[in-house]
Amino acid sequence: MTAQADMLGDLLARNRDWAAARTTAEPAFFTRLAGEQHPTYFWIGCSDSRVPANVVAGLNPGEVFVHRNIANVVHSADMNLLSTLEFAVDALHIREVIICGHYGCGGVRAATEEFPHGLADHWLEPIRRLAKTYAMDLAQTHSPEARRDKLAELNVIESVRRVSETPIVTRAWARGAALRIYGLIYGLHDGRLRDLDCTIGPGHFLPGAQPSPPFGHKVDDERMT
Ligand code: CO
Repeated sequence: MTAQADMLGDLLARNRDWAAARTTAEPAFFTRLAGEQHPTYFWIGCSDSRVPANVVAGLNPGEVFVHRNIANVVHSADMNLLSTLEFAVDALHIREVIICGHYGCGGVRAATEEFPHGLADHWLEPIRRLAKTYAMDLAQTHSPEARRDKLAELNVIESVRRVSETPIVTRAWARGAALRIYGLIYGLHDGRLRDLDCTIGPGHFLPGAQPSPPFGHKVDDERMT
């Protein structure tokens, strides 16, 4: 047997064990989920293998609808993300949308490097633009790592704004849906999710509504310790 076959065999064995353990804990678990899904959350996160939505949020299958890409970028014309968002909001009636970035993000790092990365450079262009726009703020950080982590936060805040401006979300608000979009960031070093306090909800863009938090958001220095 080849090493590859061994690896697949290992994966299938793990799956059998997992399915058996689930069924033991709740005999109707798979029957219940097979019927329909009612997830509470829609998660837009990074593809990084260290930040799996269900695991880091402590959620079971069926509880979170997920879209992931390199560096959790929200491109306004990304049909993959938009069709997933539309299904989440209009068909699944999800009202809690989470954009989750993470510190130590390789995609954010690539967006700050000067050498070519192939297609990723096109994908990461919004982060490069953010880095230029907020160059003064970013220059106040005390290390290249802190600068990239601050940029990762800015990318989440920008993504929250972009999702909130999609016709999918503005239509949902016009219908009276209590839809909220949250910005979180995950620490690879401690496994904790942090709220970036950039939530956008119904009425945010109405005249007289509170403006969203400024982009000069304070970097959480606690993680550096
Ligand atoms: Co990442």
